[in-house]
Amino acid sequence: MTTPRSPEDSSHNPLFELPEPDADAQAHSERLIARIAEDIHASGGRISFARYMELALFAPGLGYYSAGSQKFGEQGDFVTAPEISPLFSRALARQIGEVLAEITAGDVSDADVLEVGGGTGTMAAEILAELENQGKLPQRYLILELSADLQARQRETLTARVPHLIERVQWLTELPKAGFRGVVVANELLDALPVHCFVTTDKGVQERFVTFQKGRFQWGAIEENPEALPLPSHLSAFVAGMPSGYASEINTAASGWVQSIANCLDTAVVFLIDYGYAAHEYYHPRRNRGTLMCHYRHRAHDDPFVYPGLQDITAHVDFTAIAEAAVASALEVRGYNTQGFFLLGCGITELVQPHESLSEKQQILQAQQMRTLTLPAEMGERFKVIALARNYDAPLRGFTLQDLRHQL
Ligand SMILES: C[S@@+](CC[C@H](N)C(=O)[O-])C[C@H]1O[C@@H](n2cnc3c(N)ncnc32)[C@H](O)[C@@H]1O
Repeated sequence: MTTPRSPEDSSHNPLFELPEPDADAQAHSERLIARIAEDIHASGGRISFARYMELALFAPGLGYYSAGSQKFGEQGDFVTAPEISPLFSRALARQIGEVLAEITAGDVSDADVLEVGGGTGTMAAEILAELENQGKLPQRYLILELSADLQARQRETLTARVPHLIERVQWLTELPKAGFRGVVVANELLDALPVHCFVTTDKGVQERFVTFQKGRFQWGAIEENPEALPLPSHLSAFVAGMPSGYASEINTAASGWVQSIANCLDTAVVFLIDYGYAAHEYYHPRRNRGTLMCHYRHRAHDDPFVYPGLQDITAHVDFTAIAEAAVASALEVRGYNTQGFFLLGCGITELVQPHESLSEKQQILQAQQMRTLTLPAEMGERFKVIALARNYDAPLRGFTLQDLRHQL
């Protein structure tokens, strides 16, 4: 059984339940621990959690995403929607095809698709195959991927699944220059960006730092005279009323990422899919331990200091902050929806294979996959889709059944 990333209800701290890494993996983790400890030492004894998360996930050759651990699927640590079923990427491709056709007045070979954070390449392969079915192949399918290991895996997947389309695929290591025309997609990218952690004290909102003591990473002590952590304006109102000891995160990197992508766009729609909430739900008094979540071999827990480099670390996305960053960067927020209603609006049910063409086992599997992707109790409600646009006015089919922008 595989675990979708970040099922919040499985948040607990079952260290004793985590499987032991083998000796090679332990040694790898020890090297990363030494690397981060060195950084802490060089910074005077503490670093922000954002810096810790950045190194744990992306330290060259050592971080969780930079190095070669399996990560995705049954043998890995978690499973994402494109890995659960091709129906996810194929439904998304219908939305992408619609936008490409609109932007180019029908000649879609004049526009590009950019996927950011491509994982195993499964989503790219399925999107390309579905766009080909629709006769809407873009000029190029660009993948921006920081991990060399995952880039190699993406190339392998695409070569195996859509060899005749591989020449349209190009890998980038940075965002394209200004003037991008087309569609940008990112599934579960924002939750992997480093977050700053904070706690409210009777002296104000204090950033939480990471220290290294007795061979282990720890949260630094609450300070007598804390430096105030500046909060974005939309958030101050929620946090001001919280009792002392309320802990959560802010993802300034995600807002910065939205600003950077906005700088690249000429005529485009950006679809960001991730688990998260509008700010009033995210910074809710009940959620007083924040949303940090770690995944190791399909166990979800909330201790980011366990097995650095071997486990994924994530936080939920504050979609209000994403919308605010978009508007500040002259993008329009064109839709906000749950994943379930978005996929239904894209026509996922029309993509379901007819029962006559499937064995009984395949029928059961397909029904299970549909449930996992769309039902509220599964991924359907916790995962959201936000659409940000520049110079694009046409309706977007993923938001026709429901649009929750009023919640942002
Ligand atoms: C959780 S995985 C999701 C992968 C894939 N989209 C999926 O749904 O299966 C996060 C992906 O984002 C990539 N990533 C993280 N930070 C990134 C950044 N700043 N720019 C580009 N890719 C990034 C990771 O290397 C990885 O491919």
